Parts: sequence; C-alpha cells; structure tokens
Amino acid sequence: MPDNIDNLLTEGRRFAPSPEFVDQAVAGTELAEQAAADRLAFWAEQARRHVTWATEPTETLDWSNPPFAKWFADGRLNVAYNCLDRHVEAGNGDRVALHFEGEPGDTRTVTYAELTADVKRAANALLDLGVGPGDRVVIYLPQICEAVTAMLAVARIGAVHSVVFGGFSAESLRSRIDDARATLVITADGGWRKGQVSPLKPAVDAALAVDGESTVRHVLVVRRGENEIDWTEGRDIWWHDAVAAAAAEHVAEPFEAEHPLFILYTSGTTGKPKGILHTSGGYLTQVAYTHRNVFDLHPETDVFWCTADVGWITGHSYVVYGPLANGATQVLYEGTPDSPEPGRWWSLIEKYGVTLFYTAPTAIRGFMKAGREIPQAHDLTSLRLLGSVGEPINPEAWMWYREVIGGDVAPIVDTWWQTETGAIMISPLPGVTETKPGSAQTPLPGISVDVVDDHGDPVSNGEGGLLVVPEPWPSMLRGIWGDPDRYVETYWSRFGDRYFAGDGARRDADGDIWLLGRVDDVMNVSGHRLSTAEIESALVSHPIVAESAVVGASDETTGQAVVAFVILRNKKKKSLSPEEAVAQLRTHVAQQIGAIARPRTVFLVDELPKTRSGKIMRRLLRDVAEGREVGDTTTLADTSVMTVISEGMR
Ligand code: WTA
Repeated sequence: MPDNIDNLLTEGRRFAPSPEFVDQAVAGTELAEQAAADRLAFWAEQARRHVTWATEPTETLDWSNPPFAKWFADGRLNVAYNCLDRHVEAGNGDRVALHFEGEPGDTRTVTYAELTADVKRAANALLDLGVGPGDRVVIYLPQICEAVTAMLAVARIGAVHSVVFGGFSAESLRSRIDDARATLVITADGGWRKGQVSPLKPAVDAALAVDGESTVRHVLVVRRGENEIDWTEGRDIWWHDAVAAAAAEHVAEPFEAEHPLFILYTSGTTGKPKGILHTSGGYLTQVAYTHRNVFDLHPETDVFWCTADVGWITGHSYVVYGPLANGATQVLYEGTPDSPEPGRWWSLIEKYGVTLFYTAPTAIRGFMKAGREIPQAHDLTSLRLLGSVGEPINPEAWMWYREVIGGDVAPIVDTWWQTETGAIMISPLPGVTETKPGSAQTPLPGISVDVVDDHGDPVSNGEGGLLVVPEPWPSMLRGIWGDPDRYVETYWSRFGDRYFAGDGARRDADGDIWLLGRVDDVMNVSGHRLSTAEIESALVSHPIVAESAVVGASDETTGQAVVAFVILRNKKKKSLSPEEAVAQLRTHVAQQIGAIARPRTVFLVDELPKTRSGKIMRRLLRDVAEGREVGDTTTLADTSVMTVISEGMR
C-alpha cells in the first residue's frame, strides 16, 4: 500500500505512447466510443468477435435476478475448441502455442496442432475414468505443459476444474477437494523449484489419508520430478499410461454459455476459503477481449509471457484461456525467477524474443533490490509492452520497470482485477492512454467502476473511498461454490446491486483511479491473497497457543508481510524458549496452509488490544508491526495494553 497517497496524487510524470505504437495499436479510441454508445451491444459484438459459437447467442445479459447474472445464456460453445481446434482449422496448427522451459533447462515446443492432439487424448482418458460433464477435477501440478493440457481436457468434456496452487499444504488441498466434492485429482510426482525437486504427490496422499471418506476415486500422476513416490494400487494411475491408452480422436461437444468452467478457491475474511465459480461464454469473451486489447496482442508476431502460476486466477486467464483463445505464442516457465542464476527471467526473454511481458510488482521490487546490472546484461529490446498485476505498483518500481526492463519506450499497463472479476477491469489502453506511474487509471471500455464513500455516494475527484462495480460484466463470478448466501453477503450486501470489491481507491484530479489495497482483513503478500482469519485459526490450532491476531504489515519487497501476535498458554510457556516457540509456530502455519502463509514475524505478547466489545484492534497492531507511534487508543478496553506490547517489542 502506498505510504503517502497525497504525494502520489501529485505525481506529475506522464508517458504517452510513441507514434509508432499508436499506429499499430489493436485498440484505439473507437472502442470506448462503441462501448459508451451501447454497452450491451458492445459486449454482444465482443462475444461474436472473440468466440466461435456452436450456437450464436441472441441474449446478451439477463440481470432479472440480481446478483445472479447470466451472459449470452442461449449461446452454446466449447471453451477448449475455442482455444485449440479452431486455430488448427484456420491453418495455424504449426504456430507455437507454448515455449516450455523447465527449471533444469529442459525445453519443449508445443504447436497448436500438438496441443490440440494432446488435449483430445487427455479428454478421452478422463472420459475413460468416468469423469463427465459437471464433475469436479482438482489439479495440483507444477507449471508444466500438462497443467495446461489437463485444464483444457477438463473443460473440453464439460467437467469443472479446480486448480490448487502447488505451494498449498495437504490440509488446504483436502479442504478444497472436500468442498468441491472432486472425484479425480491430477498431480505430479514433483516439480522443479530452486534447483531441487519439490514433491507434490505426498501431499495428495496425505490429503486423501485424512479421516473421513473422500470423494476422490482416482489420482492421475504426471511424471516430472522422477522422485520416489508411494503408490496406491487401483487409485493411482500414471498420466502417460492413461493418455497412451486413450483414443486420439475427440470431437468437442458444445455446452451452454453458463455451463461451469472452473472453481478457484481464494481467501476471504473468514477462515474458510471461498470457491469462486466461473462459467464459460462470458468468461471466455472477456479474457480474450482483454488479452487482445490490453496487451496489444498481434498473434502472428508477438511472444507473450505471463509469469503467474496456473494455480492463481492470473494463470487461468492470462496463461491458459486468454492467450490460447487468441492463438498467441507464449512462454511457460516452470521455476523460480532466480534459479539457477539471478538473471534467469531476462535470459528467457532474450532467448524467446518475448515482446509482451506480464508480472507482479513484488517480482519487480525484488529485481530492483538485486540491481539493474542483472537485467542489463541481457538484450531485452524485443519487449514492446509491460504489464503489472496483483497489488498496487509504487511509482519507483513502475519507473524502474519502464526504464530498466522496457528500455524507456515500452508502455506499462497496470491492470486491476480479482479472482472474482475473472478478467482485467481497470487498465490503461496502451495505444490510447497517457500513463501515470502508480495508477491503474481507467475502467476498460464496456466496464464501469466507481469510487464511493461509506454511504455509497460517489466521491469527487481528489477524494478516496471504496471501489465498486456498478454494472455486471461478462467474466464476473457467478457465485461461491455451494454457498449462495455468502456470495450475496460478501459482495452485494454493502451497496445493493453494486459489486463491492473490498479495495480502497482514490480518484485524482483527472478522475483517474489509484488503488490503495484491501479494506478488509485480507492481506496481499507478494501478490497472493491471504486471510488474517485463516492464519489466526491455523495458529490457535497449535497446542501452545491461547490466542492470536494477525496483521498485514507493509514490506518493501512483498508489499505486505504476515505479522502474528500470539499469546501462549501459560502452562506450555515454560517448556519452550521463545525462539523455539516462534520457530514452531512459523512451521505450523506453513504446514497448515502452505509456505506462502508462513508469518514473517511472530511476536509473543501477554495481551492483545481489544475494544470494550472484545474486537481486536488490528490498526494498533499494524502500528506496532510497522514501527510507528501507536495511534488513537481511546476505544481500547484497557489503554495500558499497547504500552505493554510496544515496550515488549523494544
Ligand atoms: C489486488 C489477482 C492494485 C487488489 C488478479 C485485489 C491490485 C486483489 C491490482 C485481487 C492492481 C490486483 N493494483 N491492486 N493492478 N491487481 N490487486 O484475487 O487488492 O489474487 O482485490 O487477483 O489484488 O487478488 P487476486
């Protein structure tokens, strides 16, 4: 979160696109004019332009039962056909879909014809295992070609995937399997991370060994790490065996536009993750539209690289569905940015001639710290556009990105969106917008957003408030899996029929939007969403913990960092040194949720600051965690507690 928003709003630097860029830009000013003239006609046109329908929709939006939207409801399509077969039929089968690079340096080039053939066989393998339309398949894989193939194979047969990021623990995996009632898990023996094989299959085994009957009938295992794994006969099947035994031909059957495509779990303000549900026609329309216009994609010549893992929404929308629907050529990289050497990413950009690059501010800040010599040792002149996503990008990082990576010419698109929005909502249009370092600026043509005060009244320019989306959009979430009440309550109860995003925002004097970060108890660590409540409940599940409170504190590299305040149980206190207790708790959270949730800092305290009604005052804890003077304590039940905590910290 920017420290001083008032300074940001006086940010005076402006960067207009070069005349050469404007000349060839996919999107010009006409897009906004068309959307303004008739928003629904505009979306109907985008659906025609970007999607090949088996049955063209005649209806655009059904909003008769808000907040349950239907888009293009009488249309029928197959999402995988749109990402594969149609490109082959159009004569582009030889175009490279994926330049895969494994962390150890192994490579694979996959054309659209090859990817189509792979997905057809995988689809048949799933059908052979009894997976049918509407069934849920959990995917827990490294960033390898099979992850893309698996997602598309599931989509092709009308089943529903739920990808779980490989960094999540067995416990997190199990709770997602159970919530989705998945019948199949697709995993790998292991994947490469930081020069080593990081095993995945053991977490699946552990997840399925948890007490209570699991809904999972089979586990398909991709061989990648070649590490030793346990095997459950009858349940576990090698992916390569299943695919080799499956038929080669598969005709993609169309499904209704509102047929579920995937569930993706994300952290909310309670301890239980939400299964965000996305459907087919509207989602595909908006991911393809945004991928083409925001990234200025010329599919014949561009090489796109989005560094997000397929386990997150950015990987779904801008590694799999958007780029493949548009017939783009892209880089898929398995490993970490700095393995085996700190310039790995930049050497990949040079090697594959990447033209469009999409990453997160946390990565940019990490590279800034490591020094500009590292990227400058590579030829990055192929890059002609840069994108940012996941958290607010501070102007210094934005300028570094532009100068050092973009050679001072490539436009930057700072894209705001969420798991729930499915696709980009706010972003500059690279051939149109004069960009400002640090601002996502304007809603895309066809999208409306507003910044409102606590009463829901729009704020004036120069003012701050809460970000809302007043009109439904094609790739919006359709609900929370199995919990319609939570869907209504979380997103639609605060301002009636306007979607409440949970982000703070401010408009500058021009009306442009600056995102300020979450206004709820959701943290953003390295662009990953984490819930304070989820980490607190992981902490109190440890026998030495009596009570805990977690806050997101500003962190130079990761944006926010997890900081936990823990009260130990009296009896247990004596048996452990404070260092041992802290180490155990950090490990425990990593085991319960995943390494991304491991607290950066754990403070052992005797008390927590609470209001008279017993609510923990996180604002005060954030002051402590960020080393500030503790703010207003007048609503505290016991005003001495903050003095005790702050002094204990010194
Ligand atoms: C934050 C990631 C500022 C925001 C696509 C949002 C951003 C949350 C930006 C969603 C941006 C994402 N500027 N903040 N350009 N992009 N965010 O669901 O707080 O993982 O609510 O989706 O990330 O995170 P999620």
